[in-house]
Amino acid sequence: MAKKQIDTTLTTAQPRLHQRAREIQEYGTVSHMLPLELEEPVRLEMTEQLNQLLADIMTLRDLYKKSHWQVAGPTFYQLHLLFDKHYEEQVELVDAIAERIQLLGGVSIAMAPDVAETTQIERPPRGREEVPVQLSRLLDAHQVIIRQTRPLARRASTLGDDGTNDLLVSEVLRRNELQVWFLSEHLVDVPLVKAHEPPVTSGAA
Ligand SMILES: [Fe+2]
Repeated sequence: MAKKQIDTTLTTAQPRLHQRAREIQEYGTVSHMLPLELEEPVRLEMTEQLNQLLADIMTLRDLYKKSHWQVAGPTFYQLHLLFDKHYEEQVELVDAIAERIQLLGGVSIAMAPDVAETTQIERPPRGREEVPVQLSRLLDAHQVIIRQTRPLARRASTLGDDGTNDLLVSEVLRRNELQVWFLSEHLVDVPLVKAHEPPVTSGAA
């Protein structure tokens, strides 16, 4: 029996699958006219730098999930939970930055291969690593992010992009600083059970 042809020019319940078309906006561009009172060159510079930050934060987000899954040892439970909490907070930052890029008229970086090509954070091995190495990698990644956030916030302020400045200071910087504190305290080498011997004082009886 001959296959019946579907006339797609008619209204039909058949989904139109496998469609492709030209991009509606190229990566690295911004919309020309938006009623934001921010000039195009400002929005271009901000979106370019925010995309770098976004790629690094997406990488840190994924590093947290890797650490959450692969952690081992006596501190497994507390770190398993802490890593996931930080992951969720980084997810929120990723969304806030990506949407900031879009509202400025730009195009947010999104897919893993593009993020991998862009991030400045060192790629970890696929296998599992010891807790101190996991913590060190996470702290190094936070450092990459904090290092670029402060000057970028100041630049946004100088260019009159107060919304970006506020996002970077109030959300990105403060959240990353707090997470750094929570991680760093796990790398302080204090006894778990038996206190160190008290120091011998001269003249003691
Ligand atoms: Fe989980």
